[in-house]
Amino acid sequence: MKSSLDFARAKRARAPIVLVAAYDALMARIVAASEVDAILVGDSAAMVVHGHPSTVHATVEMMVTHVSAVRRGAPHLFVIADMPFLSVRRGLAAAVDAAGALMQAGANAVKIEGVAGHEEIIVHLVGSGIPVMGHLGLTPQAVNQLGGNRVQGRNARDAARLQADARLLEKQGAFSLVLECIPAALAAAVTDSVAIPTIGIGAGPGTSGQVLVLPDLLGLDADFRPRFARRYLDGHGAVLGALNGYARDVRAARFPAPEEAHA
Ligand code: KIV
Repeated sequence: MKSSLDFARAKRARAPIVLVAAYDALMARIVAASEVDAILVGDSAAMVVHGHPSTVHATVEMMVTHVSAVRRGAPHLFVIADMPFLSVRRGLAAAVDAAGALMQAGANAVKIEGVAGHEEIIVHLVGSGIPVMGHLGLTPQAVNQLGGNRVQGRNARDAARLQADARLLEKQGAFSLVLECIPAALAAAVTDSVAIPTIGIGAGPGTSGQVLVLPDLLGLDADFRPRFARRYLDGHGAVLGALNGYARDVRAARFPAPEEAHA
């Protein structure tokens, strides 16, 4: 992915788009060496990296720090940055400042949760040359209103609203759209009803691409096992095993060995 235009091309070519959420330079460097298309610097950083209970705790400053680290690790990868909690609800000037800070930190695009009430901001950012990715379904910044991280769009009214929001985002110029935790059939129907690509997380196989949080796919958190997050590694076990191997080697005087010491 070199630009937001490649997302549209991928959907037209029916080539699945592969995204991960990552937050630091080291991981970004590994992602850049992989076959993954692009990095989302998600506001999930507030939970995964900073240990907060929700993404409500992400700030523009926090996101800028992570975006610039990811950009340093992956200088040539397409990077999308989350607009954090309330950053699109403080008026147009504040939203422009936040988006500008993220773009100047190295993002190629921003992602905005929901659409109602910030339509004007989305149109303005797109008109200012900032590619905007939408985010519908489970919008974690609204966790306190949604009563937890639950599957959305299960009833006909919610599903119809989501369909309408997807079409509205397309009309407003969004280049792509994350669909989080919605029934697979609804995600497929939304994907078919818009020309822009949809990126699913917990939304089944009928989207134009998928996104997973990198520490989830690496299995780093032993206690976090959502249904949708396939683990490609027992990262928790691997890291724990390495740490215990190190501790035991130090205690048994096996580390450092002579070849690991300076003469
Ligand atoms: O913050 C994040 O990581 C996200 C993805 C889960 C889509 O928004």
